Amino acid sequence: MRAWLIDILDCPECRSDAGLTLKIDTQTHDDILSGVLECQACARSFPIRDGIPRFVQADENYSENFGVQWRSFRAIQVDRIAGHTLTQSRFLKYTGWSPEWLKGKLVFDGGAGAGRFSDVMAQFGARVVACDLSSAVDACRANEYDTMGRSSARGEIETVQGSLLNLPFKSGVFDAVHCAGVIQHIPDPDAAMSAMPALAKNGAPIFYNFYEIDPMSKFQVFKYLMRRITPDWPISRVFIFSRWLCRLFFIPSYIMSRIPKVRFFNRFLPICSVHHPHIALRQQYEMTLLDTIDWYGPKYEIRQDHRHVGRLMESLGLTGVRTANGIAHATKGSIHGGSAD
Ligand SMILES: C[S@@+](CC[C@H](N)C(=O)[O-])C[C@H]1O[C@@H](n2cnc3c(N)ncnc32)[C@H](O)[C@@H]1O
Ligand SMILES: [Zn+2]
Repeated sequence: MRAWLIDILDCPECRSDAGLTLKIDTQTHDDILSGVLECQACARSFPIRDGIPRFVQADENYSENFGVQWRSFRAIQVDRIAGHTLTQSRFLKYTGWSPEWLKGKLVFDGGAGAGRFSDVMAQFGARVVACDLSSAVDACRANEYDTMGRSSARGEIETVQGSLLNLPFKSGVFDAVHCAGVIQHIPDPDAAMSAMPALAKNGAPIFYNFYEIDPMSKFQVFKYLMRRITPDWPISRVFIFSRWLCRLFFIPSYIMSRIPKVRFFNRFLPICSVHHPHIALRQQYEMTLLDTIDWYGPKYEIRQDHRHVGRLMESLGLTGVRTANGIAHATKGSIHGGSAD
């Protein structure tokens, strides 16, 4: 971790807003590799290991399946390393944040996984704090240190192992809050969606992307029948199971994806097929395997009604709330608990 991060970290246990004291054990150049962060207010301490401050207790980490998933598929969704632009296109389309605006901004990426969206923002020159509950943070840090395809405007990514349900940051410090693909995997989605805006400065945009309640999902009979047991399997078995499903169904799903109207029915297959025409077949296969593991592995999948998310954001005092299927935008106005910049 770089030293600037210390200015925005806070004790997740007592949230005193007093910050933490840093004791460094090992350091290379500006990167603190190991040490301890201590809270003067409540005397708790948190380790820095492998360059990452760690605020998660073992019993809090219900999402270690994701840790294994992202460490196994570290780079395939990171545009810069994998050589595509899928994440950037999705990011620009849904957030509406322009590359020019992002330059120099301090952005919070909640539940960053291996950091595909963090990486897009850093490529545009943002300083990003990628926070995740699981050991996905190790994959994210490894990606940050991969120099392949770096833009000349590139900002930085700092990685923090922390929970959106117990955030280790001061209030009112970020220029933007981004959280994509995470809310449905949290046992208390409302609590996480209510907590993140407090991290933002006044005027900061807040963006959430989540699974929408979808009547069609009840026809995904195999997926939801299997999900009754697969989240409790060892993750190695979820991997083997998903590999077999992909071996059986990837080619049929590829053929179906080439036929208009028929491609609609792909969603009822037992795999999460990914068939972007702009990427190689091998990459399509790997992304399908990754997303299939992402179907069967997570402990929680709690879909949201975007109108509910909108009402929640309004109840927090956020302004300019706009929602659509799977998406919510708002701006931090004056919000209880958050301090102005
Ligand atoms: C489907 S992945 C999405 C990762 C990334 N946002 C992306 O779109 O590639 C969901 C991530 O949310 C993380 N997660 C789940 N619950 C969390 C929590 N309470 N706090 C922080 N991260 C959490 C998981 O560890 C996992 O990496
Ligand atoms: Zn404390």
